[in-house]
Amino acid sequence: MLNLSAPPLPDDRSKILPPLMPLHEVLRMRVRLKQNDILFPGQPFTETDLACLADDPVLKLLPEYQFSPYSMEPTSLAFLKHVFETYKPTTVVELGSGISTPMLSHHLRMLNPDVDVRYVTIDQNQDFADQTRGMLEQVGTADMTEMIVVDTKPMEIHGKETACYDIDSQQVADALHGRKADLFIIDGPVGGGPTGYRGARFATVPLLRPIAAHEALFFLDDALRDTELEIAAAWSELDYLHIFGIKAVGKGTLVGCYLDAEDTRDAA
Ligand SMILES: C[S@@+](CC[C@H](N)C(=O)[O-])C[C@H]1O[C@@H](n2cnc3c(N)ncnc32)[C@H](O)[C@@H]1O
Repeated sequence: MLNLSAPPLPDDRSKILPPLMPLHEVLRMRVRLKQNDILFPGQPFTETDLACLADDPVLKLLPEYQFSPYSMEPTSLAFLKHVFETYKPTTVVELGSGISTPMLSHHLRMLNPDVDVRYVTIDQNQDFADQTRGMLEQVGTADMTEMIVVDTKPMEIHGKETACYDIDSQQVADALHGRKADLFIIDGPVGGGPTGYRGARFATVPLLRPIAAHEALFFLDDALRDTELEIAAAWSELDYLHIFGIKAVGKGTLVGCYLDAEDTRDAA
C-alpha cells in the first residue's frame, strides 16, 4: 500500500534538490488520465523516430548550431516532424523563428516534393530573423519560406490587456500567396525571461484566425510553463477553438484546432 501522505524530506536534504512534482500528485494524475504512459515523454517515439533527430539532414547541414534555452527542444521538433508526416500540411505559419524554421520547412519540402508548399515565419527581432534567414539559405529552403519581422505592440483582445505581434494580416495573406494556413506553430512572442512579456502568446490564436483554414491545427510550445497554462485555460473558453491537450515532449506542446474557417463564419 502506498503512503501518499508521507512527510517531506528533512530540510537539509530537500534544499539540495530542484523543485519537483510531488509523487502523490503525479500518481493521482496518472490515475485520472486513464491512458497508458500519457506522462511519458517517449511516447509514441520509437528508436526509429529518435534516430530521425540524430540523422536529421538539417542538423547535419548546420553542424555549428547550438541549442539554447530559447530553441525548441529536439523531442518537440521530432514530434512536429511526425505531425507533418501524419497530418500532411502544405501551408504552415510559425511565430518565433529559429532552428525550428530550417528543420520544419525542410521537412515540409521533403514530404511534398511536387507540391507548392509555403512556410511563413514571423519574428520580433531583426538580428534573430537574420540568423534564421542565414540557416534557411544554408539548408536550401529560403525560396519557400517567407520571413516577416514585426515589433510587438500593446493590444486588447477578448477583453484582455496584452501585447503581441503587430501583425498586418494582408502582409501575411500575401506571404501565403492568398492561401489559408493549415498548421500553426506558436513559439513566440518571447513570453518568459528578462525580455519576455507574460501572456504575450494569448493573442496569437485570435490574431491568426482570419488566415486559418477550416479546422487548422495549432501547436503551442512551452505549454507546461505557468504563463502558457494560463493562456491555454483562457483559450479553452473561446467558442471557435478546441484544445485537444498537451503532449509531454520538450517544454510541453499544446495541440488545438480552429473550429471554423472564416468563409463559414458569416453564413453561420
Ligand atoms: C522561443 S524563441 C523561438 C525559437 C525557435 N522556434 C527555435 O526553435 O529556435 C522566440 C523568440 O526569441 C528570440 N530569441 C531567439 N534566441 C534568443 C536568444 N538567445 N536570446 C533572446 N531572444 C532570443 C527570437 O526573436 C525568437 O523569435
